[in-house]
Amino acid sequence: MADEIKTIAVLTSGGDAPGMNAAIRAVARTAIFRGLKVKGIKKGYNGLLNEDIIDMEPRHVSDIIQRGGTVLGTARCMEFTKLEYQQKGADICRKHGIDGIVVIGGDGSYRGAQALARLGINTVGVPGTIDLDIACTEYTIGFDTAVNTAMQAIDKVKDTSSSHERCSIIEVMGRHAGYIALWCGIANGAEDILLPEEYKYDEQEIINHIIESRKKGKTHHLIINAEGIGHSTSMARRIEAATGIETRATILGYMQRGGNPTAMDRYYASIMGAYAVDIMLQGKSNRVVGYRHGEFSDFDIEEALQMQKGIDAYQYEIAKVLTI
Ligand code: ADP
Ligand code: F6P
Repeated sequence: MADEIKTIAVLTSGGDAPGMNAAIRAVARTAIFRGLKVKGIKKGYNGLLNEDIIDMEPRHVSDIIQRGGTVLGTARCMEFTKLEYQQKGADICRKHGIDGIVVIGGDGSYRGAQALARLGINTVGVPGTIDLDIACTEYTIGFDTAVNTAMQAIDKVKDTSSSHERCSIIEVMGRHAGYIALWCGIANGAEDILLPEEYKYDEQEIINHIIESRKKGKTHHLIINAEGIGHSTSMARRIEAATGIETRATILGYMQRGGNPTAMDRYYASIMGAYAVDIMLQGKSNRVVGYRHGEFSDFDIEEALQMQKGIDAYQYEIAKVLTI
């Protein structure tokens, strides 16, 4: 055990994601098992600045692994992008005897963790976001649940769309990334998948595709549109006007962030939470946990933030092939 680490804290930051509770539980119980004291910081960096900090015992995290959301609460705290507030945060950590923080969140949250590390507080990030948009890892907590929630909702829309022989545009979350859209597009058998990374803003191409599909005997035309492209309602109006086919838009919205986490989210969140504690005890700081090529590993936060990831060209091509 690294000599200097006696107390660690855990916080969740940015958008919540199903499985964050499993990660909190794993952080708390692993740290307690390893002989540390554990504190929970409520509502992300806001809670740190407001000293909204609680002691955590093993029983505080009982019965939460199956629950969506985050029991610690989360927030977006713009103040924390400023050095004076980061310094205040580091001072508050010292005041409460917090030697290290496990930050469960996305890219933005790691910037906060990086700032604290520079100011002498050990930090490790755990990837918690439904968007799967963190380049250093093939898995982020919440993605699997969100995709399954969206897929089930889209199946339902597809039923009614087929009955009415309509075109449906369904907008899924993902911020600037198209992973939820790609996965739903393949899992739901969508005719078109619009990804921010790939979309050429050529609506005529979609219109031609709808007309062709109709000629081939397809009774519905399902378009999965990523939030990063957006404008599904106006797109539906234009498509209906151009094709004469009734077209409806459905924006799935926040339902994708809630609900009981899948086994996959609970499992990966549990291992990643524990891993974060264990690497901190090995003396590592300013790191982020990832899962790549079948293994859990960790990366320097700056390197992780510099990494890029895009949509796999082969998978995107096959998504199109499968709609013939
Ligand atoms: P996510 O962590 O899901 O990417 P955000 O981008 O909203 O979500 O970031 C979450 C929080 O992380 C922000 O509200 C802020 O408190 C903190 N944060 C974001 N960017 C920075 C930054 N450049 N420096 C310090 N803290 C940051
Ligand atoms: O990052 C998760 C996410 O749900 C994105 O998919 C979406 O763009 C964003 O958060 C919405 O954020 P907010 O909760 O601030 O509206």
